[in-house]
Amino acid sequence: TADDDARDVVVVGGGPGGYVAAIKAAQLGLRATCVEGRGTLGGTCLNVGCIPSKALLNASHKYEDAKHGMAKHGIAFGGEVTIDVGTMMAHKTKAVTGLTKGIEGLFKKNGVDYAKGWGRLTSANEVEVTSEDGTKRTIKTKNVILATGSVPAELPGVDVDEETIVTSTGALELKRVPKTMAVIGGGVIGLELGSVWSRLGAKVTVIEFAPAICGAGIDDEIRTTFQRSLKKQGFDFKLNTKVVSAVKKPEGGVTLTLEPSAGGEQTTLEADIVLVSTGRRPFTDGLGLEDVGVETNKKGQVVIEPHSFKTSVPNIYAIGDVVEGPMLAHKAEEEGVSIVEQIAGKKGHVNYDTIPSVIYTHPEVAWVGKTEAQVKEMGIEYVVGKFPLAANSRARANDDSEGVVKFVCDKATGKVLGAHIVAGGAGELLAECVLAMEYGATAEDIARTCHSHPTVSEAVKEAAMAAVPGMGSIHF
Ligand code: FAD
Ligand code: NAI
Repeated sequence: TADDDARDVVVVGGGPGGYVAAIKAAQLGLRATCVEGRGTLGGTCLNVGCIPSKALLNASHKYEDAKHGMAKHGIAFGGEVTIDVGTMMAHKTKAVTGLTKGIEGLFKKNGVDYAKGWGRLTSANEVEVTSEDGTKRTIKTKNVILATGSVPAELPGVDVDEETIVTSTGALELKRVPKTMAVIGGGVIGLELGSVWSRLGAKVTVIEFAPAICGAGIDDEIRTTFQRSLKKQGFDFKLNTKVVSAVKKPEGGVTLTLEPSAGGEQTTLEADIVLVSTGRRPFTDGLGLEDVGVETNKKGQVVIEPHSFKTSVPNIYAIGDVVEGPMLAHKAEEEGVSIVEQIAGKKGHVNYDTIPSVIYTHPEVAWVGKTEAQVKEMGIEYVVGKFPLAANSRARANDDSEGVVKFVCDKATGKVLGAHIVAGGAGELLAECVLAMEYGATAEDIARTCHSHPTVSEAVKEAAMAAVPGMGSIHF
């Protein structure tokens, strides 16, 4: 019968949320299909997000280090250090292609059916897939998981052409290093991709509507330390400022008209390249949500019941960037696993209190849990423990000692409420803090855990020691 032919799960979208859900479904014995329209798997993250940006951050860090950081170690290159942008981009593309092809391999290995094409809901149990050549087929299914992700948000008055006025996608593809770059929006994308081009030689100016960079979730002290570091690297910041218009000049480059966020006197700023990084919006175009009655909210997110991921239509679920919550690949992946476990009749759970955030600049910025200000506002009595990287032996030996580790702990129980790190490799250092919070550890648990010497992770241990009343750190 037709029902016997039906899939157990059709996942629409092959990003970190969707492809992980499809693989997990197959691993749990469900017949799973993943529908993806862009021609390659991996979604925003692998194709135009996490992975290509990290490839360029790594390459540009190596270049900057070679140019400015190595001489003091006695390393000389016998000539000027130069960058070939084409070669740098070719390596990035190779990394991306290897990884996206790798997911196709994982699909084969796990028995996930990969339906190439754009998916549209035609009923609660049917997804119509239109392939590149226009042919259509309908897949029947018991359950649908929507994982269609997000795209850059448009900014009125600033028309993106992906060459001179670019989103993150264009900023990952520039053909040469601009002399000047204006970054609209001082969030994660602006600071990471601004760093790439700043290291390669561009003068970067960040225009931020809000009074501070990095949004609301970051600890104030960490933000100040980070912003100071970026300024030292040559970033200019125009805070409390909005862009009124962007006009492309015939001879190349752009004239931006700026105004204080609250209104007032206008000024202009010239830039060779403008990066628009003012956030992303959920992507549901052409998905047929209205036709089957799947509700969305004012922000365009698919409305779900927390933890069960149920939309307004039974058997249709949604995860990742297309629903509420932080737009992060690891959050999408956790949700993908959780929903499939639930469909398979198991318990699936995502702990939203321990989703880490990392900004992959140099130094990196990484945090999990509550900021000091949030804890204060909640009226919780707390203890702060801090340790500067400058007092960590390995960081000093590595000549990479800018930054700090900060713990915010409950005064009564010692439990870790938040961990905040600025350091080279902060993203890796944070993992033990996330684990500690997941296990409900106290600062003393971390402080009494033996850490290898000499490692930068000892700074985490020492910050935890500083957060234990009556204990304190040894080296600071
Ligand atoms: P997406 O990755 O957006 O995937 C959705 C997929 O669905 C897309 O491939 C799309 O083509 C497909 N699709 C959409 N509609 C349909 C349809 N109707 N039919 C078929 N297919 C469809 N996050 C991190 O955690 N760490 C980082 O370092 C990081 N860096 C980033 C850097 C940049 C420049 C950007 C832009 C984002 C970055 N992110 C990072 C965010 C991360 O990429 C997203 O949070 C993540 O990709 C969301 O996963 P998702 O599966 O929900 O959606
Ligand atoms: P964002 O939300 O992080 O930052 C946008 C910034 O632009 C905010 O500071 C906001 O105040 C500002 N802004 C908004 N409108 C403005 C305007 N009109 N003029 C000037 N400033 C304005 O968004 P971003 O950087 O575009 O990133 C999108 C998403 O991608 C984020 O949610 C992030 O989670 C994800 N991402 C994650 C990365 C990571 O985990 N390392 C890296 C890159 C992206």
